[in-house]
Amino acid sequence: CGIVGYIGHREAYPVVLKGLKRLEYRGYDSAGVAIYDGKNIKLSKTKGKVADLEDRVKNEISVDGSLAIGHTRWATHGEPNDVNSHPHYSNSGELVIIHNGIIENYEPLKQELINRGYTFQSDTDTEVLVNLIEDVKKNENVKLGKAVQIALNQVVGAYAIAVFDKNKPDEIVVARLGSPLVIGIGDEEFFIASDATPFIEYTNNAIYLEDEEMAIVRRGKKVKVRKIKDDSLVDPYVQELQLNLEQIEKGGYDHFMLKEIYEQPRAILDTFRGRMLSNEGIIRMAGVDDNIEKFLNAQRILIVACGTSWHAGLVAEYVFENLTRTPVEVEYASEFRYRNPIITEKDVVIAISQSGETADTLAAIKLAKSKGAFVFGVCNVVGSSISRETNAGAYTHAGPEIGVASTKAFTTQITVLTLIALKLAQKKGTISTSEFHGYLTEMSAIPAKVEKTLESDEHVKTISSIYKDATNFLYLGRGYNFPVALEGALKLKEISYIHAEGYPAAEMKHGPIALIDEQMPVVVIATRKGHYEKVVSNIQEIKSRKGKIIAVVMQGDTSIKKIADYVIEIPETLELLTPLLTTIPLQLLSYYIAVMRNCNVDQPRNLAKSVTVE
Ligand code: G6P
Repeated sequence: CGIVGYIGHREAYPVVLKGLKRLEYRGYDSAGVAIYDGKNIKLSKTKGKVADLEDRVKNEISVDGSLAIGHTRWATHGEPNDVNSHPHYSNSGELVIIHNGIIENYEPLKQELINRGYTFQSDTDTEVLVNLIEDVKKNENVKLGKAVQIALNQVVGAYAIAVFDKNKPDEIVVARLGSPLVIGIGDEEFFIASDATPFIEYTNNAIYLEDEEMAIVRRGKKVKVRKIKDDSLVDPYVQELQLNLEQIEKGGYDHFMLKEIYEQPRAILDTFRGRMLSNEGIIRMAGVDDNIEKFLNAQRILIVACGTSWHAGLVAEYVFENLTRTPVEVEYASEFRYRNPIITEKDVVIAISQSGETADTLAAIKLAKSKGAFVFGVCNVVGSSISRETNAGAYTHAGPEIGVASTKAFTTQITVLTLIALKLAQKKGTISTSEFHGYLTEMSAIPAKVEKTLESDEHVKTISSIYKDATNFLYLGRGYNFPVALEGALKLKEISYIHAEGYPAAEMKHGPIALIDEQMPVVVIATRKGHYEKVVSNIQEIKSRKGKIIAVVMQGDTSIKKIADYVIEIPETLELLTPLLTTIPLQLLSYYIAVMRNCNVDQPRNLAKSVTVE
């Protein structure tokens, strides 16, 4: 979910509405706002998108007032409908709350409140929380901030909340545990949001609340931050943001996803720029350099992640094992955290996350740390929870990724992980100096080769128009490109709702081959490197069952051209670096198919970009 708030001297509604649009990628089942003009609270909410909210607000409420909070939801408790949307009132109608996260013990709390005479309109855990705050406030005769604090100490779960009180027109109280919350500090005005994108045009100064912190944001006063547990005051760190507006707008593209696909040459370059000094033959990464012994002495590297980041982890498994000869295991964070995994202080855990907020990944990190492992983060969002929770890390410099389907985050994750593997291999001596230099030189050429690969755009569009009505797709690859096949299938599923499976090419004969008929498009990654002949045999097996073959091949390939229905070429590169190129046409394929099927590419149904619940 995304939360936004404003308190200051401007009209609050336009600020909050625009902020909600920026945060919509975090969830878009429903949306709502509450505006307070000092006398009346005006609340409007609806199932659907922020645009639906905008329409409803026009007919429903007046929008004047210089305090407002807004919410865009990804449903956890209670289906997405008008009633379950946020904000929620307390029973007296005096308190209004927005909440991101889950209150796990909401049932006993709710029962207790019902026993005390409270009634509930919605099925949400949030309405329980706001009434709990109200109950504390009344019974203990305390002010809002104190009531929030006492209430939160009774709550088990995760939250980022913003709440205000009709009796306190100059104040919003916010708190976080497990879900991000940032306070933007302007001139006599404050912004509250799940990330900094809603307020970037107003201020570059922000306080990122830490877990178990709350803040009272008062018009014209300094922000006061406290620990929720023991009420101690915290001296907040005001961070200067590096974001700019251009990065978070579409810049002439139809969708964020397409813009982000096209940003990859630059994103990959930004990710290795300053780190890979090809002329000097050095890779410099502070997070790795400072902890080099940990990496070199690691008995095992464990990679934990979810979704697309997990796929980047799988690519990294092949890269690390090949280059550094250190055993690597890759796990879904959600499985890892609940299966009593064997971790010791001799393990290095690498957590990969674009958002840096994924709840399961964060929990896996905490678990690994508690067992004494050294945890290294690969995140895109600067200052995110995972980047702060890990012992050290390296950022991908992809810039904000707004499209829900991850694209540039994936290729930059692979870039960072490859740099780390190369650095370790050089230190360990598991690759020769000339091989090392060869990789650096080729890595420097990758941005231009991605650019070249993007030239297949029109051709991929044509292929998309031919297969857009298929009901199933199969994606096959081997070695480094097996995870790329998984990622290609995931992209298609996510945004076009076509069922797709990714498989290691040779495994096809153990099952998926049964699905192949003349209706079935099969995307095969068949670069001339790495088991080429074997993949060609796999293609023959598809062909003889009349499957339709779309092959991603290396420039100048002639043998596959003869058997495939369509080929998409990528420039020649080293086998280990091929995922950075083979991924590109698969992203474009899913993009164009989704567009042709009239799907909402940037906000596919049921998904969210940042999953802060488990
Ligand atoms: C969500 C997103 C995916 C993403 C996954 C992991 O499901 O929709 O695109 O790959 O979370 O997110 P992370 O931010 O941890 O990489």
